[in-house]
Amino acid sequence: MQHPKRFTITAALPYTNGPVHIGHLAGVYIPADIYARYQRLNEKDVLFVCGSDEHGVPITIKAKKEGISPQEVVDKYHDLIKTSFNKFGISFDNYSRTSAPIHHQTASDFFIQLYNNNKFEEETTQQLYDAEANQFLADRFVVGTCPKCGFEESYGDQCENCGTSHNATDLINPKSAITGNTPTLKETKHWYLPLNEYEAWLKEWILKEHKNDWKSNVLGQVKSWTDDGLKPRAVTRDLDWGIPVPVTGGEGKVLYVWFDAPIGYISSTKEWAKNNNQAWEPYWKDENTKMLHFIGKDNIVFHCIIFPSMLKAHGDYILPENVPANEFLNLEGNKISTSKNWAVWLHEYLDEFPEKQDVLRYVLTANAPETKDNDFTWKDFQARNNNELVAIFGNFINRVVVLTNKYYQGIVPAPNDFTVVDDTTLDQLQKYPDIIARSIEKYRFREALSELMNLARLGNKYLADEEPWKQIKTNPDRVQTIMFVAIQIASALAVLCEPFLPFTSNKLKSILNFSNLTNQNSWQSVSTERVLIPDHHQIGKAELLFAKIDDAEIQKQLNKLEATKESNKEFIPEPIKDTITFEDFTKLDIRIGTVLEAEKIPKTKKLLKLKVDVGTDTRTIVSGIAESFKPEDIVGQKVSVLVNLAPRKLRGVESQGMILMTDTPDGKLAFIEPDNDSVSNGESVS
Ligand code: 2FM
Ligand code: ZN
Repeated sequence: MQHPKRFTITAALPYTNGPVHIGHLAGVYIPADIYARYQRLNEKDVLFVCGSDEHGVPITIKAKKEGISPQEVVDKYHDLIKTSFNKFGISFDNYSRTSAPIHHQTASDFFIQLYNNNKFEEETTQQLYDAEANQFLADRFVVGTCPKCGFEESYGDQCENCGTSHNATDLINPKSAITGNTPTLKETKHWYLPLNEYEAWLKEWILKEHKNDWKSNVLGQVKSWTDDGLKPRAVTRDLDWGIPVPVTGGEGKVLYVWFDAPIGYISSTKEWAKNNNQAWEPYWKDENTKMLHFIGKDNIVFHCIIFPSMLKAHGDYILPENVPANEFLNLEGNKISTSKNWAVWLHEYLDEFPEKQDVLRYVLTANAPETKDNDFTWKDFQARNNNELVAIFGNFINRVVVLTNKYYQGIVPAPNDFTVVDDTTLDQLQKYPDIIARSIEKYRFREALSELMNLARLGNKYLADEEPWKQIKTNPDRVQTIMFVAIQIASALAVLCEPFLPFTSNKLKSILNFSNLTNQNSWQSVSTERVLIPDHHQIGKAELLFAKIDDAEIQKQLNKLEATKESNKEFIPEPIKDTITFEDFTKLDIRIGTVLEAEKIPKTKKLLKLKVDVGTDTRTIVSGIAESFKPEDIVGQKVSVLVNLAPRKLRGVESQGMILMTDTPDGKLAFIEPDNDSVSNGESVS
């Protein structure tokens, strides 16, 4: 589509079963945001929507694990995720949630339309069932070997290793993720979307029409699935968390999460339209709308095969013009994992690096996993900040603003005659909007960002070659021209960096006093207006755009990851000691006791002096537990005590026994205590 009238930009709805991390930002939300901001600067009608994906098995599993309801899980993470996106400047026009009534209604209506037009096949088949859990095993409730690639931990609906989407009954050697049992089969009725009927059309539309403009990773996956032959896919499930199936016979069943989630883009649009008194239909039904889905590679099948088939079956909707899916970002050489806590969580980053959102945006874009999986390392984060943002971009702006203030009290000087160098520099400058745009429009955001930095490099080189600081005494007329040209470069950077570094752009615009100017806020103004800031315009004082990040800050992050690694290490129990006789064992007199008093032994790190009631008497015991417990927290604690251990002096205090402890995975200690509070002090442990 050459000149679309409007843009509908969607970013994958994140599952609301945990916070969002750098992988989400790099793969989906930053590229989508850069694109949306760029098109807005192009003065296009842009609608950028997203929301929380609140249904599906991952939410139910999390709720079971935490002993809370699925609604409580999604309420907790929806707010956290929404706030993180907002703080990183992800400029959604609307961020909704799939538990919203408007979404339930939209998804139900969509299903009914397909149902009424006989677009589904209704089938009763044998499905995997866990009798112990009394639960059909769909999606993430079942794991087994992927029939395509042999990966042993594939989920029921999708293999995370090869990306294939399949039916749960296709898994080899399936096991219930709830009980570990081998499932049995049980009959149940479901509605299937016959993807096989859309196969020829999908091939024509994606593999032929879009063979030159869609990314090769996306085309490759689509080809692989269509080559294998598409099969009907169930769009309903026997679960209790989700959108109820809205037709007779659907009682007790819900829509498959991947049926309802992409409809969430439509509901989010409707919510936006309602809140802003606008029409939603043009963004989904007008042929002059360019629709784009930004996603990660694990979502390709759903956005390129299933959702388009749903839209086609429905009949009222336009199709995406492109689905620019990214690969995955790893962290320090390992796959990012929510369950292993191997991630940089956005809310934690914001606490630890306040005001540095643009640094992360920059690093994640410069290193985006656009064509292959990529690695985020803290050393690279530091290097890119210090050597690129500080040394190139920040340094140029700082020189321009400081010198303009020093020489002219911040008033932009009038230029004198331009030299060839000045003209060439301004000519080059005016080409940058098109250079950067070409890359953005091909979804090559790394390349686009690197061109933006080339513009900052152009500025640095210009100043270094022209050396205004050397000429200010001898040739002040020339310096006026140099500084005038340098200020034009600075203001071009303020406009063109906005999609990538929105916080920096705002700060720079405020330093340059953009609010007093009229025509330089659009992308094209940088190409068309040779003078972005006129002479006699007053700029503000210098403020640092970026600050150096030192080794200690980076080491702190590396230590944090090291601690995570340690706590993830598989526990290997020590070998069993030599056999003892029963008589040996009976020599140990272990009793239940209660801690009555506890105090730290001065000048020691580990030792607490305890008074313990062991039933027969109250005695003093010195215990090396001070790094795991505060004295005030353990008064009243039930403990197991070896009471016939020969007394010995520790730091001058006689210890009359030993408290039995065990280690926990996080390196702390835990008491061995009876699991029944009524056990009396002095009871034997045997
Ligand atoms: O992979 C995920 O996190 C899914 N929740 C993405 C859904 S995208 C859309 F279709 F809603
Ligand atoms: Zn696989």
